[in-house]
Amino acid sequence: MTSGRLVVVSNRLPVVLQRTKQGEWRVQSGTGGLVTAMAPVLRDRGGLWIGWAGTPAAQARDVELRLAAGVEGVGYTLRDVPLTRDEVDGYYHGFANEILWPLFHDLPSRCNFDPDYWPVYEAVNAKFAAAVAEHAGSEDYLWVHDYHLILLGREARRLGLRQRAGFFLHIPFPPPDLFFKLPWRFQLLEALLDYDLVGFQTVRDRRNFLQCVRALLPGSRVRGAGAVVSLEVPDRRETRVGAFPISIDFDDFARFAATAEVAQKAWLIHESLPRRQLVLGLDRLDYSKGIPERIRALARALERFPELRRNITFVQVVVPSRTDVAEYKRLRDEIERLVGRVNGRFTSAGWTPIHYIFRSLSRVELVAYYRTCELALVTPLKDGMNLVCKEFCACSLDHNSVLILSEFAGAAAQLQHGALLVNPHDIDGMAQALWDAFRMPQAERAQRMQALRRSIRQQNIYRWVDTFLQAATSHQLSDFPVALAYVPRRTEPPPA
Ligand code: UDP
Ligand code: G6P
Repeated sequence: MTSGRLVVVSNRLPVVLQRTKQGEWRVQSGTGGLVTAMAPVLRDRGGLWIGWAGTPAAQARDVELRLAAGVEGVGYTLRDVPLTRDEVDGYYHGFANEILWPLFHDLPSRCNFDPDYWPVYEAVNAKFAAAVAEHAGSEDYLWVHDYHLILLGREARRLGLRQRAGFFLHIPFPPPDLFFKLPWRFQLLEALLDYDLVGFQTVRDRRNFLQCVRALLPGSRVRGAGAVVSLEVPDRRETRVGAFPISIDFDDFARFAATAEVAQKAWLIHESLPRRQLVLGLDRLDYSKGIPERIRALARALERFPELRRNITFVQVVVPSRTDVAEYKRLRDEIERLVGRVNGRFTSAGWTPIHYIFRSLSRVELVAYYRTCELALVTPLKDGMNLVCKEFCACSLDHNSVLILSEFAGAAAQLQHGALLVNPHDIDGMAQALWDAFRMPQAERAQRMQALRRSIRQQNIYRWVDTFLQAATSHQLSDFPVALAYVPRRTEPPPA
């Protein structure tokens, strides 16, 4: 590290300012993997976190004061970048969540390539760069996060900032045939080269990025073959490019899961749904999470394997997210229609197959669900990493649970030997995996879960941050081991 502070810049701060129905302002925890992963890092190292407080600028006064109260005593400071309603619409709802998010998650048909979004995206990235110029010192290390702020490095250089700067992409990076659809493909790719170090979740994402660079920026050269390689593009300075699979604070989750408070809540949840195995689905409201496909797979499993009826309850928690974007509203309607249909079809006296929750959970509830559910269905259509699956394993203290995981989650590469891997588009395959997990003997469950927990404990969030910052400051090309991509295995369709 440099001698200065760590300055993290992301669209979201770890807390969000929200207005209650009574018109009062409340500071709430932010949701999503970025916040879960980065909050313990800053608690551990201290520093500064620059981001948006999640509310239009004109509404909340004294934002910084309220934010400061939200993180009092945690050892780092927050700086708000106030955004106007138009900026939130064009940059956050628009360019970030209607273009980059669906395209990078392999869903180009959901993109709205509205040309009016681009200038707002540029302007807001420049605004974040100005906030960095105001608050960061010359010795600080700038660490920019995620797809909202790809241009920040470029804008910071334009302002004359010379600090070392790294970028980490929490979501997947698409292969060339998808990335090339982007009308602003050259600008985004070149802007990434304005960082000293660019990190991706998996080797596959990094390969996609390097393939795009080779195709669009001729004459580029890659040196090295390990987890961090060096990229040289004519007339530009060197950029280092790495794969750094993100993780969780394993010990913190495991410790909290063992507390009496969580144990009691876990017991209460299971007592209210007695004598059956609980299957957990827990996601932000997002079409990349494959929730409708999962509910269809559950229905298929209940149809094909009648012994599952009354012997499992599927608990699907959906955490509200981006509810101002039309696609997310439609998704919520679709999920609720499907839940109603499956419950209407299979419910019998004393048993409802799907227990559906649409709200954020408190930390006690979250960890209690992780601890008490025997099975987890984590089946995104595409996910940068997915932390829910790692948290579920960390909290599975009895080693009696089974993780069913999508091949298309970044976590599949690391967790492929302990989890049951499924293709989330294969409804029969997922139904079969649910049946296999339900019947899996205790000894096999324990063996798989122990292996999963060992791996997540070793490659925890602190190791991740050390590895990234080491690559950011040392000129040795790292040989940090990263799991290779998961290669799909053959499954047979059920007999007709
Ligand atoms: N989570 C949350 N609020 C909740 C339930 C869960 O913030 O009410 C957290 C969860 O603990 C996890 C994160 O949201 O850390 C989801 O991260 P993941 O990487 O699985 O997906 P993302 O939402 O970032 O796409
Ligand atoms: C994912 C993204 C994060 C984002 C989070 C929650 O984890 O990678 O950048 O913060 O989802 O989404 P939101 O739009 O509410 O910030």
